[in-house]
Amino acid sequence: MDFEIVNGPVTELETDCIVIGIEAEGKLSPTAAEIDKAAGGYLNELTTSGDLTGKAGEQQMLFKVPGLNARRVLVIGLGKAEERKDRHYRKLVTAITGTLKRSGIASAVIALDGLASDQDDTYRQTRQFVEWCSAELYQYDATKSKKADPIKLEKVALLLSEDDTELGEGALLDGVAIANGVSAARDVANLPGNICTPSYLAERAIALAENYETIKVEILDEAQMEELGMGALLAVGRGSSQPSRLIVMRYTGADKEEQPHALVGKGITFDTGGISLKPGADMDEMKFDMGGAASVLGTMETLAEMHLPLNVVGIIAAAENMPAGNAVKPGDIVTTLSGKTVEILNTDAEGRLVLCDALSYAERYNPQSVIDIATLTGACIIALGHQATGLLSNDQALADSLLDAGEYAADRAWQLPLWDEFQEQLDSNFADMANIGGRPGGTITAACFLSRFTEQYRWAHLDIAGVAWKSGKQKGATGRCVPLLAQYLLDLAEQKEGGDDAE
Ligand code: BES
Ligand code: MN
Ligand code: ZN
Repeated sequence: MDFEIVNGPVTELETDCIVIGIEAEGKLSPTAAEIDKAAGGYLNELTTSGDLTGKAGEQQMLFKVPGLNARRVLVIGLGKAEERKDRHYRKLVTAITGTLKRSGIASAVIALDGLASDQDDTYRQTRQFVEWCSAELYQYDATKSKKADPIKLEKVALLLSEDDTELGEGALLDGVAIANGVSAARDVANLPGNICTPSYLAERAIALAENYETIKVEILDEAQMEELGMGALLAVGRGSSQPSRLIVMRYTGADKEEQPHALVGKGITFDTGGISLKPGADMDEMKFDMGGAASVLGTMETLAEMHLPLNVVGIIAAAENMPAGNAVKPGDIVTTLSGKTVEILNTDAEGRLVLCDALSYAERYNPQSVIDIATLTGACIIALGHQATGLLSNDQALADSLLDAGEYAADRAWQLPLWDEFQEQLDSNFADMANIGGRPGGTITAACFLSRFTEQYRWAHLDIAGVAWKSGKQKGATGRCVPLLAQYLLDLAEQKEGGDDAE
C-alpha cells in the first residue's frame, strides 16, 4: 500500500473514493462545501433533511455524486470541536481505514482539511494518519496455513494545499518508516516461543544488517558471555535448551567518533517464571516477554529508513526462562558483569537479571544516553493500566524528552519516582542485593535494581508490561513503544541539525 500527497481541486481528482468531513450540526468542511457546490447543493440537502448530521462516528458512503471525477464520497462525522483529541482522531482513522478495506476499493483520497484533530499541526496529522491507517491494515498470518487475503487498497492519497505539500511529504516518509518499524515489531513479537527463540532474534538482527548498510551486527554466544562474566544473564537461560544471546546492532548515521545513544531491549522469548513457576492461566502471553527487544528491532529499522544523522547502538538481552534440573534456583547467588553480586530470591524476576548485564555492557560504547525497554513488571499494569508506559530515570532532562516524545507520538509514558528510599527494599543478607523488593512499588524497585548498573551514564527505563500487547479477542502485539523511541531520535536529530548550522 502506497501513500502520497495530492493537491486539488477536489472535483478533478480521479479516485475510487474521496473522504470528507462534516462537523457537528451539519457544518460542511471547506472541501465538503466545494463538493456541494459542484454537486448543486446535494450535501446541503442531506444535512437539512437530517440524513447527514456530522456527529462523531457517523459514516455515509455516497455514490454518483454529480460534478466529481471520483466514484464515491465517504462522508465522516467529525463531531464537536472538543471531540478531536488524539484518541478521537485515532478512532476516526481506524474507522475510515476499516470502511475502505471492507469496501474492497483500490484507491482513496483523504480530504479532511485538518479538521479531524485539535492539534493544528499538518506534519503530525499527516504522519498520524499514515501510522494509524497502516496499523489498522496490519495482518498476522505467519503461522496460519491459510494466508490472509491481500488488501485491495493500493493507494491512499492525502489532499493538502500546495503550501503544505513539502511538509506533508516529509510526514509521509517519517510515517511510513515508523509504521514499518511498528509492523516489524508486531511481527516478531507475535511469533510463538518455539519459533521466536534467542537465536531467532539474533537472525532478525542479522537480516536487518543485511538490508541496511548503515547497520552492523554482532552476536555474542554463551561462551563469549561467560568469558566476559555475564553471570546474571546466563543464569536466566541456564534451564533452557535454547542458548542465550547478546545481540548488538550498531547504526552509524553520524561521524564515527560521535558518542552513540543506546537502546537496550529485554528479550525473554518465553517467561515461564523458571523454578518460581508462574500460574498456568494466560501463560501463553509470556511469549510477548520479548516486546522490549521487538521495539528495539523495530526502532532500528525505522531509524535506518529515516537516515537520521545519529549513532545508535541497539542491544538485546535474549534468553528463555525455563525450569529444569540445572535451572537457577531461589537463593542462588550470581556475579554480574559489573562485579556486583545478586541473590536471586525469585527466578521470575528475570528481566532485570538479563538487563543488568546488558546495561553494564552498554558502558563500553560511552553512550550519550541509554534507554532500556522491557515488559518488566506486572506491578506496572496495576499502577498504570494498559495506556501508559512506565518511565523511570536518573536524569530529569532525559525523562522530560521521553515524556514529550511520547506525547507528540501519541505513545505516552508516565513517570514514576526513583527515590533512594526505595533502594533498601533490595537489601540482602548474602549478596550485594536481592533481585526482588517485595510487593510494594514493584515497578519502582525493579527500576532501582537496574539503576545500580547505570550509574555511569544518563539512563531511562521504559516498563512496557501494560502496553506491549493486547489480550482477549484482539490478542496481539502492539509495536509500542516504537513511535515514542522514533520520536525521541527524531527530536535528537533535529536539535543537532539546529545546533550544527545555527539556523
Ligand atoms: N515478564 C514478567 C512481567 C509481566 C507479567 C509482564 C505479566 C506482563 C504481564 C516479569 O518477568 C515478571 O515475572 N515479573 C514479576 C516480578 C516479581 C517476581 C517481583 C512480576 O511482575 O510478578
Ligand atoms: Mn518473569
Ligand atoms: Zn519476564
